Amino acid sequence: VLGTGRIARMFHLRALRAAGADVRLLADPDPDALAAAEAQAPAAATTRDWADAVGRDDLDAVVVTLPSRLHAPAAVAAFAHGKHVYVEKPLALDAAEAGAVVTAWRDAGTIGAVGLNFRFQPLVLDARRRVAAGQLGRIVAVRGTVCSPPRPLPGWKRSRATGGGALLDLAVHHLDLLPFVLDDPVATVAAHLHSVRTTDDTALVTAVTAGGVGLQLVASASSRQTDRVEILGDRATLTFDRFSGGRVEVRPVDGASDRRDRAEAGLAELAHAARRVARTVAPADEPSFRAAIGAFLRACDTGVQHRPSIADGAAVAVIVDAAERSAARGGPPVAVAGSG
Ligand SMILES: NC(=O)c1ccc[n+]([C@@H]2O[C@H](COP(=O)([O-])OP(=O)(O)OC[C@H]3O[C@@H](n4cnc5c(N)ncnc54)[C@H](O)[C@@H]3O)[C@@H](O)[C@H]2O)c1
Repeated sequence: VLGTGRIARMFHLRALRAAGADVRLLADPDPDALAAAEAQAPAAATTRDWADAVGRDDLDAVVVTLPSRLHAPAAVAAFAHGKHVYVEKPLALDAAEAGAVVTAWRDAGTIGAVGLNFRFQPLVLDARRRVAAGQLGRIVAVRGTVCSPPRPLPGWKRSRATGGGALLDLAVHHLDLLPFVLDDPVATVAAHLHSVRTTDDTALVTAVTAGGVGLQLVASASSRQTDRVEILGDRATLTFDRFSGGRVEVRPVDGASDRRDRAEAGLAELAHAARRVARTVAPADEPSFRAAIGAFLRACDTGVQHRPSIADGAAVAVIVDAAERSAARGGPPVAVAGSG
């Protein structure tokens, strides 16, 4: 495990242990981060730098949970040593770097996964199934909101050059998820960036899919924790919020069942209150990390590549590039390379 910071200790090390993986090595220059990780993987050796780790013969696979600017260099080096690689999002700082990771992955012929773990989220999978089954009718438009609260950020998240900013850190999740739920890739994108507390920590993105559906996305590191998706169809609408309600709500567009809607909303409130109580006594859990790491480990065992792969991570990097070009020019729509 390369980088044993906040997220590795919250999710990846737990998920690896739950899956029965043999964690051999932890790499981090921060002694506190390393010591806290050692408590979760006592049999593992330790080292200070990822670069000392990737070449070791006793490792089959590496999990890259480094600051984002180190994702691409660490992944390229690990592939060059023939390792399987799970690399956190964003895959790289830009599309050119992402392309180098794709080349290294294809040359290695090993398993390459990107940490767009919300593709494994039960709410997302439920929404995707309902869209595919036609429950919403024709899709009219999609809105996403992905925000994290204004908490102190590690230094590297405060600047775009080291992987900070709302597009790279937060929007990447929905830029992957919304097209995934619709099964319809992004064709053009327009963006407006805004600095509330740190550089470009807020982004407004509008995109149009190859199928002509409009997507609207707000991503911010300076507001209430939210991960909300709203899909408007001509037969029904679908909404879910991972942090509020925790279930997929489908409502017919004809509005015939007002009393039932109100009763359902009341029940959802009660369920939400119960979950909030449960969360105060249990550690934070997000099942998609466990599912994503589990899928990666199974792929390493079987040799069968799964998704989201390195190529999926690179596809998001291409959308982010286009969004940044749009924002730099004042927000006109920009074609996403390769989408045509
Ligand atoms: N999938 C998700 O939902 C999700 C959520 C949070 C974070 N992430 C991603 O995970 C990554 C880590 O995020 P975090 O919040 O844990 O950040 P963090 O800063 O807490 O952790 C990064 C760790 O890497 C260590 N590090 C720095 N240089 C190193 C080196 N040369 N060798 C080894 N270790 C080194 C740091 O000391 C730190 O402990 C980021 O890329 C972030 O985008 C993904």
